[in-house]
Amino acid sequence: MHPLLRLARDYGWQRRWSYLAGVLALLATNGLAVRIPVEIGQVIDALRLGDPVGRHAAGIVLMGLCVMGVRTLSRVLFFNPGRDVEYALRRDLFAHLLRLQPAFYAGQKRGDIISRASNDITWARLAMGFGLLAAVNVSTAFLLTGGQMLVLSPRLTLFVVAPLALALVVVRLCILALLEAQRELQAETGRLSDQVLGTLQGIATVQGFRAEEAFIGRFEARNEALYRLGMKLAWLRSVAFPLLILGSGVAVALLLGVGGPMALGGDLSVGDLAAFVALLATLAGPLRSLGWLLSIVQQGRAGLERIFELLDAPVERPEGTSPVAMPGPGRGPGLQLRRLSWAYPDDPARPVLRDLDLVVPPGAVIGVFGRTGSGKSTLIRLLARVYNPPPGTVTVVGADGARADLVTLDLDAWRARLSVVPQRAFLFSESLAANVALVDAPDPARLRAAVSAAALEPDLAALPQGLDTVVGERGIMLSGGQRQRAALARGLYRDADLVLLDDVLSAVDHQTEARLVETLTRLARGPRGPTVFIVSHRLSALRHADRILVLDQGRLVDQGDHKSLLGRPGLYRDTWEQQRDPGAPAPVGGAP
Ligand SMILES: Nc1ncnc2c1ncn2[C@@H]1O[C@H](COP(=O)(O)OP(=O)(O)OP(=O)(O)O)[C@@H](O)[C@H]1O
Ligand SMILES: [Mg+2]
Repeated sequence: MHPLLRLARDYGWQRRWSYLAGVLALLATNGLAVRIPVEIGQVIDALRLGDPVGRHAAGIVLMGLCVMGVRTLSRVLFFNPGRDVEYALRRDLFAHLLRLQPAFYAGQKRGDIISRASNDITWARLAMGFGLLAAVNVSTAFLLTGGQMLVLSPRLTLFVVAPLALALVVVRLCILALLEAQRELQAETGRLSDQVLGTLQGIATVQGFRAEEAFIGRFEARNEALYRLGMKLAWLRSVAFPLLILGSGVAVALLLGVGGPMALGGDLSVGDLAAFVALLATLAGPLRSLGWLLSIVQQGRAGLERIFELLDAPVERPEGTSPVAMPGPGRGPGLQLRRLSWAYPDDPARPVLRDLDLVVPPGAVIGVFGRTGSGKSTLIRLLARVYNPPPGTVTVVGADGARADLVTLDLDAWRARLSVVPQRAFLFSESLAANVALVDAPDPARLRAAVSAAALEPDLAALPQGLDTVVGERGIMLSGGQRQRAALARGLYRDADLVLLDDVLSAVDHQTEARLVETLTRLARGPRGPTVFIVSHRLSALRHADRILVLDQGRLVDQGDHKSLLGRPGLYRDTWEQQRDPGAPAPVGGAP
């Protein structure tokens, strides 16, 4: 379906009454406007005959005033719904962007999405406001003026229509080239936005490594491509649309050339000829609008295609429409992994997890250890369903023994029971309290409990406004360790049945780490204790776990509690000795 038609159906139709009123207003104003030249013609004929002209003149002034008033009204009636449409489309787009999952964003450029949501969306307003107004205006103007011309002289009308029709055919050809150029321009704008966004996000790195010149060079290349496309578009436009005006110029010449002799020969009154020329003059505005309209139609089409492409991106939710009920709440759920293998969608040939078999009892504290790149974060992401594991590989076991395949569970319900603190947690440019609670009104008691459990309390005194300190973009105002503990506090703020902590203790000192581990273990051992996964490179953080998983290149190579793992040779024991005595030789392969 043509994106403009779809926009009209999905967003314009509900505002049809405003448009209808606008159409009526336009009809009225154009109907009046077309009378004015006729009146002028009558004044001229009256002057020639020496008749009084006062009444005609007053009529013309009055009609002129009415035309102005009604025209303004018609603009309001069209432009307001146009803005409503843009507003509603932007709201729907944002809501959809929030529903799309990380698997979608992995293949997208953020800057391009921003460019679509800010640049391309304006075409919705232009199309549903000015575009529709122009469409109605142009067609009524042409119909009414054409009708009036036909009444005056069918033969002369032909001399007006022919050159205009010819011009229109040529313009139509230019439009196709314009559409192509416009599509390229929009894609290029997206790439440029992405480059600017990426550069700004990494500005400290760019400056720190004196890489400004290189980044400017890359930017220049994009900027130049954009410039060239802009010039091409401007050229096409400046050639295409004046053709219509040229057409009307030719029409005037034909009118005078053919109509002059007719008037002299008495086939046509001089007044009628003057009215004809005046009628043609009233077409100047609509002809310009026609140019704009054609340009809005093609540019709007290219822009809206990009909006609908985002809106149509499927939300990957394999649970379908009738998700299985969640295994009952209570103690944290148990998990069973059966032959879980997984590769990221952008590199399907390289499995990151291989044949994982595992049984996690409800309420257990599981430590996850492995070299960098061994798949620890990937395992956490699959459990959190940042990405969906293959069906049948992960089973959730409720405290009551009920079982369900993880991917058949309702995604929102599952996430509501989870608390995930990712390895690189994101802080918003808001207050620390808002970052921890992530809801509109943080609960003070729970906030304090979470902050204290995450060992963030001692830092608050050093922050200018304590919990109300705005932490800056991505938490720039906080130290690395503070950022980590703020993220941990966020993870502990909500009551979760499954807590997934991905390397959240790496930037804290040993004392703090010991305290945090103790808090977490106590939490898990409580009567309604959650199931907890702690990923860490530091074995001191894992030693109290009920079970520690040792991952190596995506395989589960060993598991057991701290004592049993120390009892046999392997990566775990080597790493333990290395970390206890940093002077000892590093384990083979180099643990991080
Ligand atoms: N989004 C992604 N797309 C493609 N490949 C990825 C993605 N994230 C991770 N990988 C790859 O998957 C493998 C495992 O990564 P993962 O992040 O799970 O390791 P990790 O054990 O958490 O490492 P670390 O200890 O450094 O955090 C790596 O080889 C990595 O290159
Ligand atoms: Mg990781």
